[in-house]
Amino acid sequence: MDLGLRDRVVVITGGGGDIGVNCAEIFAADGARVAVSDVRLEAAMRAADRARAVGGRAYADRADVTDIQDVERFLSGVEAALGPIDILVNNAGIFHSCSIDDMSVADWNRVMEINLTGVFIFSQAVLRRMKQRRRGSIVSIASLAGQVGGIHAGANYAASKAGVISLTKSLAKNAGPSGIRVNCVNPGVIDTAMTQPWPADVRANMERQTPLGRLGRPDEVARVIVFLASDAASFIHGAHVDINGGILMD
Ligand SMILES: NC(=O)c1ccc[n+]([C@@H]2O[C@H](COP(=O)([O-])OP(=O)(O)OC[C@H]3O[C@@H](n4cnc5c(N)ncnc54)[C@H](O)[C@@H]3O)[C@@H](O)[C@H]2O)c1
Repeated sequence: MDLGLRDRVVVITGGGGDIGVNCAEIFAADGARVAVSDVRLEAAMRAADRARAVGGRAYADRADVTDIQDVERFLSGVEAALGPIDILVNNAGIFHSCSIDDMSVADWNRVMEINLTGVFIFSQAVLRRMKQRRRGSIVSIASLAGQVGGIHAGANYAASKAGVISLTKSLAKNAGPSGIRVNCVNPGVIDTAMTQPWPADVRANMERQTPLGRLGRPDEVARVIVFLASDAASFIHGAHVDINGGILMD
């Protein structure tokens, strides 16, 4: 199936992480031009190298999703290097595991700021640009935790991801009339740098509870993101798509 991604300009936030790198490679392999931002510049540059290695044009720079000036500077750099932005993947995020009893307001705010406010800041900045061209597509990464509440994840992480699911619907209502689609995905537990430090018994318990009997791989999330971002998903809008091995079926 041709996803129609040739020469589309794709921005991936937090693109130096495991799911982000997989997105960069798959978009690039389908002919897209990939721009990677991350707070870790070297990780962003490595992801861009991986995109180039499969034949795509790529750009990387440091940008903190919570810093509006960083975001504007990054987006101007992308437009100068690769052209107008067609696709945004809101992938940047941090994990926090802590009981509500012990959670400080600073812990709460830090996770909400990166995982939810960061999606708002990047989406607003990109939507302004997309609306001028009346085309585009946004995919954000929410989480199973946003649907069921934190199990190993803290309440801050779960609430931030529930916020991403809700923000996706508001963005979809705002942007749909301008021809711009907005969706999100809800990964279950995926084997990445985010979950590898979890205690072995927590990971084993998640595997036992998952009908497919294992954790997900980052490429299994990335492929769904690439599909949702592409014209192949042209009538999917305001949706949240579960990628969880069957641990939650609703
Ligand atoms: N791994 C899972 O099980 C899982 C499950 C559900 C959702 N998710 C979500 O998927 C996304 C990617 O996670 P991953 O598993 O690849 O983890 P990861 O830690 O490998 O990647 C996250 C990336 O975000 C970057 N980042 C952190 N704070 C940032 C900021 N302020 N500005 C810009 N970049 C920042 C990190 O440097 C890192 O490269 C996250 O939003 C995460 O919450 C992951």
